[in-house]
Amino acid sequence: MAVEESAHGVNWIVAERGMGQSPCRAQDGACFVYMSAIRILFLGDIVGEPGRKAVIEQLPLLKQSEALDFIIVNGENSAGGKGITSKIAIDLLRAGAAVITTGDHVWDQQEIVDYFPTEPRLLRPINYPAGTPGAGSVVLETAKGRIGVIQAQGRSFIQPPLENPYLAVEKEVERLRAEGVVTLVLDYHAETTSEKIAMGRMLDGKVSLVVGTHTHVQTADERIFPGGTGYLTDAGMCGPDDSVLGRTVESVVWRFKSGMPTRFPIAKGPVRLCGVIVEVDAENGKCLSIKRFDLLIEDDA
Ligand SMILES: [Fe+2]
Ligand SMILES: [Fe+2]
Repeated sequence: MAVEESAHGVNWIVAERGMGQSPCRAQDGACFVYMSAIRILFLGDIVGEPGRKAVIEQLPLLKQSEALDFIIVNGENSAGGKGITSKIAIDLLRAGAAVITTGDHVWDQQEIVDYFPTEPRLLRPINYPAGTPGAGSVVLETAKGRIGVIQAQGRSFIQPPLENPYLAVEKEVERLRAEGVVTLVLDYHAETTSEKIAMGRMLDGKVSLVVGTHTHVQTADERIFPGGTGYLTDAGMCGPDDSVLGRTVESVVWRFKSGMPTRFPIAKGPVRLCGVIVEVDAENGKCLSIKRFDLLIEDDA
């Protein structure tokens, strides 16, 4: 058993596999982390230059301080709020993201269409028609076993209308589990809470984490369902805190008051990073713990 001090001054006691039945918190405040636990950070929609600069700066630090094994980020708004470019994808991967998910803004930057087939770690929703560039899932080998990530898009108040996400995800989860992949994360990019909760319940016991994206507002309903699936309706966004979903307050308020078309510039100022951290049992894919992640970075990125 080894004791390590993290950057935050927390003593992590790392036990060998088989020394305990499940993670527990010691009475002296030290944290036990068993070698079979995989620590995964998921960050919600990265908005514009402020969001992506903050994420790129913080990921290496968070990987250390939070003892992360695997990082997933949603990059659908990372290019000026509209889509993602190949350069931004490369920068996020180099900073430590293992997988980048997207959403309804996936095709906003035209050059990304040709980049998708070259980068399997960049996902688009799985419920696009067959033949769509890119893929909606990926499995990566890690030091703690294979980890699969799937992305799907909802069908309420969101465009374009895609194929049934529940059937598409169910089929893919069954395929991956049949291949022996037990650590599975789904990013469900959808507008309504009911769509997301239903997806989480449908997959309870079959995946490690179902986390929602798209609304840019973090919900406070993190929990572990009875079958062992971690769940959060929306991860929130990584972008300017003093804003309306990452855009300037003035522009969005004016739009709602006037009803007139206008541009929505990306806001400035301190950036808030939002997401979720889960610990997953690598042996069976069950979620052991879940906590919301919310970090305000005071310096303007
Ligand atoms: Fe979206
Ligand atoms: Fe978004």
